[in-house]
Amino acid sequence: MIRDPERMDADAPAVNTADEDRLPPPDPTRRRVAARFGRAAAGYDEAATLQRRVCDRLSLLALDHPPPAGAIVDAGCGTGHWLPALRRAFGERLLVAADLALPMLAQLRRSQPDQPCVAADLHALPLAEESAAGIWSSLCLQWCRPDASLMELARVLRPGGVLWLSTLGPGTFSELRTAFAGIDEARHVLDFVPPERLDAAVARAGLSVLARDRRRHVACAPDLAGLLRAIKAVGAQEVGDNRRQGLLGRQAWRTVERRYEAYRRTDGLLEVGYDALYLVLRKSP
Ligand SMILES: C[S@@+](CC[C@H](N)C(=O)[O-])C[C@H]1O[C@@H](n2cnc3c(N)ncnc32)[C@H](O)[C@@H]1O
Repeated sequence: MIRDPERMDADAPAVNTADEDRLPPPDPTRRRVAARFGRAAAGYDEAATLQRRVCDRLSLLALDHPPPAGAIVDAGCGTGHWLPALRRAFGERLLVAADLALPMLAQLRRSQPDQPCVAADLHALPLAEESAAGIWSSLCLQWCRPDASLMELARVLRPGGVLWLSTLGPGTFSELRTAFAGIDEARHVLDFVPPERLDAAVARAGLSVLARDRRRHVACAPDLAGLLRAIKAVGAQEVGDNRRQGLLGRQAWRTVERRYEAYRRTDGLLEVGYDALYLVLRKSP
């Protein structure tokens, strides 16, 4: 069954803010997210050290909770670097890679030419109902509306199927949030969904929690510009609406740099934290 993401927006009824999470984000936001990840695609594998660490941790949870027989989807697969690991873990079965950013899928086709892949938005996957036994989605949900995308993932999952999920919690980039606080009117850091809101969305999607974990991971660089470059190198610099259009003034930048010195470690590096949330979810059999 093919579903058209554009129509979902056009058909969406007017809602109050409490219901907003059930809708896909507006097109400009998705286009911006897709464009940023698209630009990062060529250098993604080299830059994605932290993303691989998160996949490693999620894999351990997944091995404890294998899927029933059937296809596995990697939703928000990026360059597909984790597909070989999924193949090793769960044996030869149909693996489908899905991502919003076409250049990510182009990278995937270069490294794994036989891998089936589909250009897809997590809010409206072009996959049939109950067609997947397992869905792997690492570090994609934070770019999506949790309610709308979890409902969609649950629709695609067959009864008894398992969803292995990692996303980012509100502690992510807290150092940046503090350093940029009040520097101007613009937003400098994306807001991340708290675990309680995620849990509520999980329950509304009809999924139950088999396992969960929460870990702080850090990325380091010699200076603040280097830390921001590392975030940009994986395409993760989108901050949502009300972002700054031009460069920060020199004075303001120096203030942010000075504040960020509070996060210099004894080995001389600056660090930024990622509040990684891990969930293993199951659709009732
Ligand atoms: C940080 S990367 C993670 C990629 C890979 N899962 C990994 O662990 O390295 C996030 C990926 O999610 C994709 N993405 C963001 N929003 C999406 C959406 N609404 N639907 C599908 N993919 C999306 C991006 O294009 C990007 O490739």
